[in-house]
Amino acid sequence: MKVHGKNYRAVWMEGGHVVVIDQRLLPHKFKLLHLRNHRETAEAIRNMTIRGAGTIGATAAYGMAQAFLEDSSAEYIAKAYNTLVTTRPTAVDLKHALDRVLVTSGTARAAVAEAKRIADEYVTRMQQLAAVGLPLFKRGTRVLTHCNAGWLAIVDWGSATAPIYLAHRKKRNVFVWVDETRPRCQGAHLTSWELLQERVPHKVIADNAAGFYMRRGEVDLCIVGADRIAANGDVANKIGTYEKAVLAKENSIPFYVAAPSSTIDLHCPTGDKIPIEERDEKEVLFLAGKRITAPGARAGNPAFDVTPARYLTGIITERGIFKPSQMRKAGHG
Ligand code: MRU
Repeated sequence: MKVHGKNYRAVWMEGGHVVVIDQRLLPHKFKLLHLRNHRETAEAIRNMTIRGAGTIGATAAYGMAQAFLEDSSAEYIAKAYNTLVTTRPTAVDLKHALDRVLVTSGTARAAVAEAKRIADEYVTRMQQLAAVGLPLFKRGTRVLTHCNAGWLAIVDWGSATAPIYLAHRKKRNVFVWVDETRPRCQGAHLTSWELLQERVPHKVIADNAAGFYMRRGEVDLCIVGADRIAANGDVANKIGTYEKAVLAKENSIPFYVAAPSSTIDLHCPTGDKIPIEERDEKEVLFLAGKRITAPGARAGNPAFDVTPARYLTGIITERGIFKPSQMRKAGHG
């Protein structure tokens, strides 16, 4: 997608370097970072220089390719795999991508090729997903989204945003409600910035305001991304997704999850088995570097929640729109 009129992806490889957009600095500064080895790449995933399930997967795949370039001995590769796979626990695309590079790579060259294939597949799959989701948009549809499930989060196009961008390009007059998404504010910092680059009309709203607009009849549709979809259709996504889904049901608004089929984890029977990342309490206690709570206050900071399948209208993938009960059909065997 475009930044100042030029096409970018969220991550790519140049020589032995993994190149990423430093998402911690957006929307104030657009800066590329060159990650020189798999350890730097793992750290960039851990400290959320890059984030979002698909971009985490593609970046980890490139990191694994870097490890092969550094030293392809079995011992070194096993250690590198462990360093990368433990960076973030909830997004299953991370493990999925690492396993693919590991299985297909006898040589460093094959590892680099497989990592590139994984990143390219996200792009083609999100273009396909955009077309699958497009019919949900009539003229003037007002859609609400949570967190950043945009191109920064999945290499290009985005998952939740892919049909939005396509509907916008087809001049369907879409309007987007962007949840700010505390505590890290991915909606305010990233989704709004992305939409501005593509000139998609939108407004950022405090997370607490979603119910207000739903009840007033100003939200026609909700689309969010996913970090892991269990075999029974329960979905882990950014904290706050669950309450938006409950509110949507209460207000008879269709609630869709958009994700590539690689986010469906058929080994995970239900949402209760999805590991939920607990992050540093400072993310809640501080805002934009400033303490907002009295000294001594403590905070809980789960990064994701699970939305039970019964709240979902459908799951949009590159293969079609599925009911949550159809995950065995939608996922990879
Ligand atoms: O903690 P983050 O910023 O990595 O969380 C991102 C999300 O929850 C997205 O909605 C999700 O990864 C799907 S986007 C491909």
